[in-house]
Amino acid sequence: MPDAGSPKVVLVTGASTGIGAAVARELARQGYSLVLTARRGGRLEQLAVELRQTGVEVLVLAADLADPATPERLVSAVVARFGGLDVLVNNAGFGLPTLFADAAPADLRRQLGVNFVQPLMLARWALPHLIARRGTIINIGSAISSVPNSALGAYGATKAGLAYWNDALRRELAHKGVKVCLVEPGPVQTEFFRSLEALAPPGGRYNPLLDAPAAWMSARVEDVARRIVRLIDHPRRRISVRRRVVWPFRLIGGLFQIWPALGDLALSSMTRYFDRKGDLARTHGRLGDARPSE
Ligand SMILES: NC(=O)c1ccc[n+]([C@@H]2O[C@H](COP(=O)([O-])OP(=O)(O)OC[C@H]3O[C@@H](n4cnc5c(N)ncnc54)[C@H](OP(=O)(O)O)[C@@H]3O)[C@@H](O)[C@H]2O)c1
Repeated sequence: MPDAGSPKVVLVTGASTGIGAAVARELARQGYSLVLTARRGGRLEQLAVELRQTGVEVLVLAADLADPATPERLVSAVVARFGGLDVLVNNAGFGLPTLFADAAPADLRRQLGVNFVQPLMLARWALPHLIARRGTIINIGSAISSVPNSALGAYGATKAGLAYWNDALRRELAHKGVKVCLVEPGPVQTEFFRSLEALAPPGGRYNPLLDAPAAWMSARVEDVARRIVRLIDHPRRRISVRRRVVWPFRLIGGLFQIWPALGDLALSSMTRYFDRKGDLARTHGRLGDARPSE
């Protein structure tokens, strides 16, 4: 919880929907000052109106994180308004609905940028301010990174990369008082899966390996948000939500590491099955100019 006199300032990326919006609501409930960013400015403004009613300060910065100039611009705008930054939540991210071979190179580049490169660049620009305030970086990874699979090949790679960097940075910054935490959710019911579906070819199925998970195995977005916000006062190296879904997944990942031939057999067979059925969507070039509607 922030001090009564000086609320901590938190920058949340991907705050227009899903986990990011829920994190913003939880932060507002606890009295933090907020900076919300995503592409859909209308949604961010709507959320800001709601959150300001709780008495907190909210700055909206609509921006495309795929733009290489965005991280520097965001951090400068935050510092100009609040004089510093206490917490960076690297949450924005998206999946692609195809196998690697079917993804347009431009889409892959965009995904690598938004999910992996820009979280690092944001942290780099924010670092002097975070060091000055002995602040916190919270990175949103994914449980998927423990089982490399063709359904989410490049996506999983961005999350695995984030996990490596998260640990390296935590060790680099420990003596400077900056906390670095990784959150690896299992399935959460958000727009994540709907946006995958929206990118599938008209009338065609998208990658069935990415079907929206059943409610029983999904975490509630509010619970995920509470766990994330708790890290500000109670930092942890890595947390999973929900643990009872993620741990079996980790176990399978561990087994496939010890016995890679088994992993190859299981996941290659599954991919081959769907590929033969012709279910795997091909979306060449659709994402680059696809803008989500408000
Ligand atoms: N849902 C799950 O099951 C699940 C599981 C594990 C990990 N995660 C991770 O959790 C994070 C949040 O996902 P979610 O489930 O909340 O998905 P979501 O509802 O689809 O939200 C994704 C957020 O990212 C933003 N975003 C996407 N592309 C962007 C871009 N180019 N520039 C700026 N912002 C961009 C979106 O905002 P705009 O569209 O307005 O730009 C949106 O606010 C992601 O990193 C995801 O990989 C999700």
